[in-house]
Amino acid sequence: MIIAMGNDHAAVELKNEIKAYVESRGYEVIDFGTNTSDSCDYPVYGEKVGRAVASGEADYGIAICGTGIGIGIAAGKVKGIRVCTCSEPFSARMSRRHNNTNVLTFGARVVGVEMARMIVDEWLDNQYEGGRHQRRVDLLMEIE
Ligand code: RB5
Repeated sequence: MIIAMGNDHAAVELKNEIKAYVESRGYEVIDFGTNTSDSCDYPVYGEKVGRAVASGEADYGIAICGTGIGIGIAAGKVKGIRVCTCSEPFSARMSRRHNNTNVLTFGARVVGVEMARMIVDEWLDNQYEGGRHQRRVDLLMEIE
């Protein structure tokens, strides 16, 4: 299983913590950067993560900026991407089960590393339930 990761300058440290954590759980990570604290533009990295998932280069994506919002908006503009931006584990879990999200985002200025690990665990460990949710996910994708 391959996870695409991306972040802006606000989230280099948390990205490195989460990258190491995800790898320790047995996932391969493609790191699209950024890897410096130089100010940069989150849409660039959100798009990279979104495109990697949409093309099949990666199975899922995790993207981090200051709030998780901007990078999530960017990733979600790529056709085929369903983003969960969250700051607690329950939403991460339900977004996998009901919305079949394929990109997770959160904010380095919002959550600490332990909360981020819990969010990632819930997101990676839950599966899409399909069934009645498929019609709704299909409707989401028709909006594109
Ligand atoms: C960068 O200052 C900040 O705007 C960015 O990390 C993010 O929070 C945007 O949504």
